[in-house]
Amino acid sequence: SKPSVYITRQVNEEALNLLNTHCDVTYWTGSGPVPRAELLKNIQNKDALFCMLTDKIDSEVLDKAGNNLKIIATMSVGYDHLDVKEIKKRNVKITYTPDVLTDATAELAVALLLATSRRLLEANEEARTGGWQAWSPFWMCGPGLKDSTVGIVGFGRIGQEIAKRLKPFNPKRIIYYNRSERKKEAEQIGAERASFEDLLAQSDFISVSLSLTPETKEMFNEAAFNKMKPNAVFVNTSRGGIVEQEALIKALQQKKIYGAGLDVMTPEPLPLDNPLFKLKNCVILPHIGSASIETRKEMGVICAKNILAAIKGEPLLTELKTM
Ligand code: GLV
Ligand code: GLV
Repeated sequence: SKPSVYITRQVNEEALNLLNTHCDVTYWTGSGPVPRAELLKNIQNKDALFCMLTDKIDSEVLDKAGNNLKIIATMSVGYDHLDVKEIKKRNVKITYTPDVLTDATAELAVALLLATSRRLLEANEEARTGGWQAWSPFWMCGPGLKDSTVGIVGFGRIGQEIAKRLKPFNPKRIIYYNRSERKKEAEQIGAERASFEDLLAQSDFISVSLSLTPETKEMFNEAAFNKMKPNAVFVNTSRGGIVEQEALIKALQQKKIYGAGLDVMTPEPLPLDNPLFKLKNCVILPHIGSASIETRKEMGVICAKNILAAIKGEPLLTELKTM
């Protein structure tokens, strides 16, 4: 019989067609993420799992899967929803979708930064609801990028592309904080490395593109927001867990910083009664960083190709290799 694949969502035809040529494919057809009980039931005896960042893959899932499971292909660049240690322990391969979503995510980060600083959603709301009485000299003003200091936290693939895209807006400086030096990339882009403290204290715009790990968890806490300038615009397109959200809410309420643009938060979806929704200086997006049409299709196809490669015992396209 053909190898079996379980997909936790309805994915694009291109990806599905690829898998259907060699595999028995079943998938969750409901709207939204697969319920946990469905996942636990359907993962049994599968050769491959094609999952999303909304699926928590831990030892319970792996125990249910049994010994046939060869690969977990997540349609995301983030992998904090996977218990990597448990998966590796069982000799199951992991693939993810780096690179292909870098440009789309960097585009979104720039859009979110400008939407937050120049108050696009608030202004749109005013225009629609009668708040626009007349052109006024200082109405709906916000800080500009020109001559500013931009701080990039996490200078990996996505962080670098954000820096490149912000360069043409002519900031005075682009500084970055990154665990490793990234000297060559920084020179090419014209960015300078800084300590986390200096970046917080000096930046007018702070954009975060880090993986969520035990080291980066709640890195943006009360102390971090206290170090920021009162005009700072904080943008997060990585993972909500990097921010201690209560501290961010306080910083925004007390105007310790100018504003925040968030594509990610805790939890997702953010409950409608969350204080963040009440803040005019906060722009909230529903985790759409990689959501360009082409990119999402490509992400699906990469997952399918990785699964086919794993089943045939061929080299994987984008294997997650961690220490
Ligand atoms: C999106 O957040 C991703 O990890 O791909
Ligand atoms: C704005 O529209 C201006 O003319 O300055």
